[in-house]
Amino acid sequence: MLNLEKRMKPREALEVSPFDTGVFTWKMNTRSIEENEWLQIDNCREEDLSLKNLGPVGNHLNGSESTSLKLFQTIESWLNKRSFTLPVVDNSLHPIDRCGRLMQEDVCLMERISERWTLTAASVCFPTHWDPFSKLGLPLDDIHEPVPRYEQDLIPRPGNFMDRISDEMIVARTGWSLTACSDLALGHEKQMVEEDPSELIVRVERQTLRRIPNSDAIAFTIRIHRWPLHVIRDDADLANDLLTSLKQLPDEIKTYKTETVELSPIVENYLNNRINQL
Ligand code: HEM
Repeated sequence: MLNLEKRMKPREALEVSPFDTGVFTWKMNTRSIEENEWLQIDNCREEDLSLKNLGPVGNHLNGSESTSLKLFQTIESWLNKRSFTLPVVDNSLHPIDRCGRLMQEDVCLMERISERWTLTAASVCFPTHWDPFSKLGLPLDDIHEPVPRYEQDLIPRPGNFMDRISDEMIVARTGWSLTACSDLALGHEKQMVEEDPSELIVRVERQTLRRIPNSDAIAFTIRIHRWPLHVIRDDADLANDLLTSLKQLPDEIKTYKTETVELSPIVENYLNNRINQL
């Protein structure tokens, strides 16, 4: 069971509703944020970091050390400036793995190789149904190869957007899914079946992008938030947005977001019953 008291609530964690209520297309949905909002720390930090200490390491290309170290220093200084204690991290780890162990976010290092933004190092302990090791060395568009409609809806905008990220700019965007499993790390297998609809998980990835100081690289962070459906139900606007969003999912997405699609009738039923009771 998730300790909701200790975790950030949707309105604290998210700049805007994550659910798109218009006709479905993948959108950039990037918005500028202040440096203060870059990373998110809540009272489950220790718990999440101890899980990360058991997580995978060693997902990096040769040559990514020095930029990963600059990122490590950037995170350290961000935490120090805000008087957060620094967790003890194993100095023998590659600096990208040390980055991941400083914060609740996972992180990917993107560097421009042969004019394409390429994943050169990653510390991903809490993936949402993807294998971070299989993406190492891939350019941005290839990383997204399994995403239906990515090409028609987005290419070439994500790459162009990354070209234009300036030193002082930080942006955030979100993605969401429904799942019956409350674990932070989700592999390819279905992990658990939750019988009670109110406890089904609305899983939101809050992602940020920023340039790493004194480098040409970009840090892409991913913070996982999980809220049982009853938390969303208690926020009428979010509940309505989620309902509308579920109705808009096109057929092409259904083979990709399989669990979301599978759970969607139960979720719709639960939210509609609740709205009718009000
Ligand atoms: C502005 C830049 C970006 C945009 C607009 C974007 C957009 C998207 C979208 C629309 C999806 C499908 C979302 C869903 O499942 O709900 C996705 C999935 C994904 N994105 Fe991105 N993305 C961006 C940057 C990145 C970067 C820098 C990485 C670096 C690793 C990345 C890694 C992934 C991965 C691993 C997936 C899952 C792919 C799979 O299922 O195999 N994205 N992204």
